Amino acid sequence: MTPSVIYAREETLDVLEFRRVLAESGLGTIRPLHDKSRLRSMIAGANLIVTARLLTDERPLIGLARCVTDFAWCCYLSELAVAESAQRLGVGRGLLEEIQRHLGPRVSIALVSVPDAIKFYEKAGMKKLANAFWHPRAH
Ligand SMILES: CC(C)(COP(=O)(O)OP(=O)(O)OC[C@H]1O[C@@H](n2cnc3c(N)ncnc32)[C@H](O)[C@@H]1OP(=O)(O)O)[C@@H](O)C(=O)NCCC(=O)NCCS
Repeated sequence: MTPSVIYAREETLDVLEFRRVLAESGLGTIRPLHDKSRLRSMIAGANLIVTARLLTDERPLIGLARCVTDFAWCCYLSELAVAESAQRLGVGRGLLEEIQRHLGPRVSIALVSVPDAIKFYEKAGMKKLANAFWHPRAH
């Protein structure tokens, strides 16, 4: 049965919750899970964080999207992560729709997909670009 999920924009996020969902989604292997201060900066520097929480008393976090945007032209979606136990239930799509709702139709969304998630973004109607560029971080 699909669990009841509540989607919301949150101004901030507890660093341990952030780290847990990154780890439980599988994205933790390519994020600095060992570096709490960097994770805190990632949360503090984002200006659009959307969460998916189960509608139970504790409201556990099961998914999140962390974005940097000007709310006028562009948005970089840095993490879209759904805990493995909640994957393939529509939560990723729900988070993407919630981001789009907050951004409105004037704002484009850019992201770098891991190979496994390419189909997910294609199904969501996003276009693969041949002319996007990336300056990699050193560490
Ligand atoms: C990728 C991810 C965000 C998708 O979230 P999700 O909640 O599992 O996806 P949804 O249930 O909303 O799926 C929406 C649609 O995409 C499909 N889909 C989801 N993940 C897919 C995948 N890895 N490959 C192919 N199709 C996929 C679903 O079957 C569904 O299709 P439908 O509309 O035909 O029913 C989630 O699996 C995840 O967190 N993965 C690990 C971290 C990651 O890769 N994040 C993205 C990095 S940029």
